[in-house]
Amino acid sequence: MERAIVILAAGRGKRMNSGIPKVLHKIAGAPMIMHTLRTAQSLDPERVIVITGHGADRVEKEISEIEPEIGFVRQIEQKGTGHAVKCAEKILKDFVGNTLILYGDVPFISPETLQLLIEEKERGTDLVILGFKSKQPRSYGRLIIENDQLISIVEAKDATHEQLKITLCNSGVLYTENKILFQLLSSITNKNANEEYYLTDIVKAAKDQNLSVKAVFCDEPETLGINTRSELSTAELTFQIRARERIIENGVTLSQPETTYFSFDTEIGREACIGPNVVFGPGVTIESGAEILPFCHLEGCHISKGARIGPFTRLRPGTELSEDVKVGNFVEIKNSTINAKSKINHLSYIGDTTIGENSNIGAGTITCNYDGISKHTTKIGNDVFIGSNTLLVAPVSVGDKSMTASGTVVTEDIPSGNLAIGRVKQVNKPGYVKKLVALLRSKKKSKDN
Ligand code: UD1
Ligand code: MG
Repeated sequence: MERAIVILAAGRGKRMNSGIPKVLHKIAGAPMIMHTLRTAQSLDPERVIVITGHGADRVEKEISEIEPEIGFVRQIEQKGTGHAVKCAEKILKDFVGNTLILYGDVPFISPETLQLLIEEKERGTDLVILGFKSKQPRSYGRLIIENDQLISIVEAKDATHEQLKITLCNSGVLYTENKILFQLLSSITNKNANEEYYLTDIVKAAKDQNLSVKAVFCDEPETLGINTRSELSTAELTFQIRARERIIENGVTLSQPETTYFSFDTEIGREACIGPNVVFGPGVTIESGAEILPFCHLEGCHISKGARIGPFTRLRPGTELSEDVKVGNFVEIKNSTINAKSKINHLSYIGDTTIGENSNIGAGTITCNYDGISKHTTKIGNDVFIGSNTLLVAPVSVGDKSMTASGTVVTEDIPSGNLAIGRVKQVNKPGYVKKLVALLRSKKKSKDN
């Protein structure tokens, strides 16, 4: 059966105390709603619709840049979760299939948990709700269950003293047939403490129509909803703890896991070793057997097997390191390809550059890629030796098996096999130090007098 997913993201997020729409605050380098969207996409749905409201222009723009296929419906006035879902009716009214409701500010529900809802629906339950057991249920809606059937969900504000003692809570996620969803929604009202149209009221409406309603359960951390900055930092920590566990389980060595920070999309192959204090920005892939020494900052780069990076290396977007490349301390690389077995071991900046195989880049080499107006490229061939403190003023190319002398400023292309020397010629003056010191002392003396 076809499947649609509706993600609620119109709420204001007042408690974030922020000018940025809540769902765009980042967790592990990606707006929190992208985490929900990724989970949604993993179910391979026919339609994904995000309900936007507060900051809609910005939310829609940021999502579309990454996920151009997502549809949006605006909820102009926020009249509650039930009203928000109803806004999707104009797009989904003729959709034949099941619809899943997710929240843009509940980012960690796993695909496996969603599978539980799908399976329960397949067993013939008409409406399936995702619940969890909480030690501190606070403002969560409480699940009222009788004989295995969910009878209703009571919002904390509307609950009796007895109902508030219930520890089974509503995550907000639910799954039902599209037709049933909108039919149930048409019967709900806003007669409650918040004067809102509660999505949760469809449970009671379903029972009134003799439909079967059941809850399936997941662990509480999965249902973590983000309403405050403090919850945002808890979410970041939760993400990092899980990412570290997952990556270690996949056969990667993290020598001090609690100091390694991953991005939402970091991919690391088996047998890679990551030292302490390494930070992964978005878009990093690392192949098996690569080694990342301590204190590296990596984003938008690919590191092939056998490569060794760090300590203190910064790799920026567009960096491609082939097999057995070595990059050492205080080296920054951006938008460059370094081919197999080449080395950049100390104190260098390499930008908009291609380096061939088996080349050695000496300490202090700088590619001067920017003239203040435009960026230019540097091409370095195979088996090249770049002497220490060489400046390569781009655009420039360095042929295979060529060399530069230390301190050379390369402004012209170097043909293959050539040695380029571009530095002031040295002159030695015998005995001159003594004379110079005497001269400087006498100058100082006459000045002091
Ligand atoms: C909701 C549930 C509650 C559940 C809790 C789990 C209802 C009535 N209550 O409460 O049972 O325990 O989530 O976190 O559903 N939104 C809109 N438009 C609106 C209102 C909300 O798009 O008019 C969106 C929000 O942006 C958010 C989501 O819906 O992503 C949930 O809204 P929120 O106000 O946080 O609901 P809760 O009070 O937390
Ligand atoms: Mg909430």
